[in-house]
Amino acid sequence: MKLLVCGGAGFIGSNFVRIRVAGGDEVVVLDKLTYAGREENLKGVEHTFVHGAIEDPSKVAEAMDGVDAVVNFAAETHVDRSIADPMAFVRTHGEGTYILLEAARERKLRYVQVSTDEVYGSIAEGSFTEESPLAPSSPYSATKAGADLLVGSYFDTFGLETLICRGSNNYGPNQYPEKLIPLMVLNALHGDKLPVYGDGLNVRNWLFVEDFARGIGHVLEHGVAGEVYNVGGPDEETNITVVKRIVAAVGGSEDELISYVTDRPGHDRRYSLGSEKVRALGWEAQVRFAEGLDRTVAWYRDNAWWWEPIRSGDYREYYERQYGTKLG
Ligand code: NAD
Ligand code: TYD
Repeated sequence: MKLLVCGGAGFIGSNFVRIRVAGGDEVVVLDKLTYAGREENLKGVEHTFVHGAIEDPSKVAEAMDGVDAVVNFAAETHVDRSIADPMAFVRTHGEGTYILLEAARERKLRYVQVSTDEVYGSIAEGSFTEESPLAPSSPYSATKAGADLLVGSYFDTFGLETLICRGSNNYGPNQYPEKLIPLMVLNALHGDKLPVYGDGLNVRNWLFVEDFARGIGHVLEHGVAGEVYNVGGPDEETNITVVKRIVAAVGGSEDELISYVTDRPGHDRRYSLGSEKVRALGWEAQVRFAEGLDRTVAWYRDNAWWWEPIRSGDYREYYERQYGTKLG
């Protein structure tokens, strides 16, 4: 297949591109290269790169030329940034998804939207299914939910072959260190404080990035048009358990490193995703959390060339804005 992968320079997109190219696909990447988009994520991976935004119709037309299907990862992805400044989330998820859908409709292409379990909101017990109502809490998840609804409308109204893939929290190599796991790993490696929001008992359903990338591939190849597929990880953990495991893996003292800080506004308590539907397509998560976390810590330890330019750049300002007051 020749695939257009939007947002392919980001964390999950680049892992997806690497797996698909290794499997024989030809890939065009369209990416705006925001702070989270890193060309080095695709180092050594054969692909065609188009630098541009999904909300730019001329770049989309250039990138979509001659492809068989579109997979859209392009997004603003950090909840804390969506609380501080929601505009880019509205633009990319709303207008960007619309421009991509129109271009795919014109060319009658199969279209996969990469989405998140956060569109369902928080669940105290049990797990969300694809039929669960959408109840997003943050500007991030609300705009992602809006994009999902727009995608569904292009199936119902125009007969576009759309699919939606909702993943749970991903972790693994190449994740920008604003998210829980890479932030805590890099801070622990540097002996910096580990800022745990609230009581640390929020629960996330962890999915190793390569498992999600393969799940999206299954949906692309075998999914039924018009359907939604949840892709959840095999393990659920409280944040404090995750942070303590990281301290144990990196070395250091829990008491000296862990710092409980003011909670995130609108903080979802628990995510849990049922994945029976994608399992019926032949997908299964292969990496349990303990193994995936060890692999992730090892990757950050061994790849300072990747994170050093990030930690010394704009990230410093972001970190100061987000954590300066919280950590005193
Ligand atoms: P990321 O922030 O690492 O990467 C996002 C990529 O999109 C970057 O390369 C960025 O440059 C690009 N981008 C942003 N706005 C763009 C625009 N307007 N036009 C073109 N490119 C643009 O994100 P990620 O963690 O890899 O997430 C990828 C997708 O998976 C997102 O849609 C996200 O909602 C979804 N998702 C993420 C997780 C997770 O835990 N990270 C879980 C489930 C679903
Ligand atoms: P995050 O990685 O931002 O993913 P999401 O909010 O999209 O699930 O956060 C994961 C969990 O970790 C979430 O409950 C918030 C918490 N968290 C902290 O306690 N401290 C931090 O510095 C960050 C970034 C997150």
